Amino acid sequence: MNKEDIHKKISGLRDELAKHNYNYYVLSQPTISDFDYDMMLKELEKFEQEFPEFYDSNSPTVRVGSDKTNKFLQVKHDYPMLSLGNTYNLEELKDFDNRIKRIIGFDIPFSYSCELKFDGTAISIKYKNGKFLQAVTRGDGEQGDVVSENIKTIRSIPLVLSGNYPELFEIRGEVIMPHSIFNQLNAEREENGEMPFANPRNAASGTIKMKNSAEVAKRKLDAFLYFLSGENLPSDSHYENLETAKSWGFKISEDKKRVNTIEEVFQFINYWDKERYKLPYDIDGIVIKVDSIDLQNELGLTGKSPRWAISYKFKAEQVSTKLLSIDYQVGRTGAITPVANLEAVQLAGTTVKRATLHNADIIKELDIRLNDYVFVEKGGEIIPKIVGVDETKRELNSSPLKYITHCPACRSELVRIEGEALHYCQNTLNCPPQIKGKMEHFVSRKAMNINCGEATINTLYNAGYLTDISDFYFLTKEQILNLEGFKEKSSENLLKSIEISKTAAFERVLYALGIRFTGSTVAKILAKNFKTIDNLIQTSIEELTLTDEIGIRIAESVYQFFRNSNNIRIINRLRSSRLQFEINEEYITKNILNGAKIVISGTFKNNSREEIKTLIEQYGGKNISSVSKSTDYFLAGENVGPSKMEKVTKFNIRILSEEEFFSLIR
Ligand code: IVH
Repeated sequence: MNKEDIHKKISGLRDELAKHNYNYYVLSQPTISDFDYDMMLKELEKFEQEFPEFYDSNSPTVRVGSDKTNKFLQVKHDYPMLSLGNTYNLEELKDFDNRIKRIIGFDIPFSYSCELKFDGTAISIKYKNGKFLQAVTRGDGEQGDVVSENIKTIRSIPLVLSGNYPELFEIRGEVIMPHSIFNQLNAEREENGEMPFANPRNAASGTIKMKNSAEVAKRKLDAFLYFLSGENLPSDSHYENLETAKSWGFKISEDKKRVNTIEEVFQFINYWDKERYKLPYDIDGIVIKVDSIDLQNELGLTGKSPRWAISYKFKAEQVSTKLLSIDYQVGRTGAITPVANLEAVQLAGTTVKRATLHNADIIKELDIRLNDYVFVEKGGEIIPKIVGVDETKRELNSSPLKYITHCPACRSELVRIEGEALHYCQNTLNCPPQIKGKMEHFVSRKAMNINCGEATINTLYNAGYLTDISDFYFLTKEQILNLEGFKEKSSENLLKSIEISKTAAFERVLYALGIRFTGSTVAKILAKNFKTIDNLIQTSIEELTLTDEIGIRIAESVYQFFRNSNNIRIINRLRSSRLQFEINEEYITKNILNGAKIVISGTFKNNSREEIKTLIEQYGGKNISSVSKSTDYFLAGENVGPSKMEKVTKFNIRILSEEEFFSLIR
């Protein structure tokens, strides 16, 4: 290929990827599989690396972010980012409507655009000649931080526009974190001993200010755009401009409505006050805007808020219920988390029986006592939280709650480290929930991916066959057969999956060890930089902190982990079982299946289904149980049922034989 052909090829791939990106993230109607998309992106990456002269700051490859440290420059907004007046009651909305009519004249007809008030963090993005130019946070409304690299990782935000857009304009919107992503992120943070985010809004704003855009990309933020500024907007109607912006490639909410009376505004509010719980993200109210831009200009500002718009804030739904008791849970790191057991109550469409209490400080601050009636609220999180106490209903003889001083599981004295919110049980060697928690972490999917659930770990632990994570590799078939519920086949499957785990890459083994603050990303960084476990064992805190992205907290934790003789003993036993304690560069680059969704069916000649399932996971694929249009591969053994085959043909899914599958991964 000559240079011109290469340039054409690169542009073609960029256009096609941008189109698929739009179909998937804006329209939610993908027309190719994730796997094919990733392959196309990889192809483009390869061309771009080889021919850097064709660099483009808006290529789809920038969506994955980079490890370079972001420096946030401050810039002044071309149009200040205003705030909105708030109201919590419909009376005040009526006043807002009257105020407007008094200014523009009672006989002038006009419309309102009613929109959801997304609960995230505001962003303003400038586009020039149809290309993403710069994204800036709200800051103080006058000037904000340039966070372009981070915003470019949000796949629903277009980098290149289509259609008939103005030459230069700004579009504003809200960056949000959907509930599913938020819950997953917090679960991971808790697993790693990090403080969870209080709500999706904090998580979104925290993510936007992260120094490493590759990390931002992993957080899978989303965004809705809701406001345009510029000289040559297509229409005088704000609502119509948003609709037109949709055709340029922006994600504009469908859940908006143009109305002519304040009564219709009330209807919109009442509808969403109930329906909001069904949305996959948080909204905290409704924004009401005068639709005509001419009228907006006529109405102008009061202070820093426009006179032509207002937000109606929903009251966070709260219920009061009785606090029956408190459980103190012991995590794998020994961290104690208090959880409230409540009298069952309906809240935001679900029955609530438990609520997080976070830590001793929060209990003290809210002065929560047993048998109190407490107020419970629900945001994007799975488990709701207690936000206050109804003191009028307090029992006369109640006394402040005494936080536990000893571990509920092993009775050792709890310790609270200076500057930390949580209490810890330090009996790491003998405290059962800590040991079992470490085992559950060790076998988890992102770690050693051993097919062994919580119940089996419990049984193996109670039987005395597992005392620490290294014992997995010394289990015998006789021992497993001794356990209730295990037969010949299930015992073999467990042993096979333990055997396969020995091939898990060093970074996964490192993650599986369960070092505090060492999640899978940190484990990857450590593996990449230190290469072998011996290098890590021998390194100093100083040397660790010299590594990109390793701060003092992680460095101290890693250093201390390897100073513990029991940890070293466990590592040596794992080493004798031939786990991977050195980086294998080839392995790292071999995330071959790259998230491909694979359904397996029929019987296989050389491998059991369980083995194949484990290999799929090990090579970065996802094993899915039933065929759907999002399936990437159908791995067909012998005797596949005709109805399954019919579905595979209908959805045009690629079929792989056992041999083809092995040639793909090996
Ligand atoms: S319009 C001048 N529309 O609410 C009007 N804002 O308190 C500019 N917000 O900072 C804002 N959803 O972060 C507008 N549909 C929506 C919104 C919205 C959420 C946020 C935005 C703004 C804050 C105002």
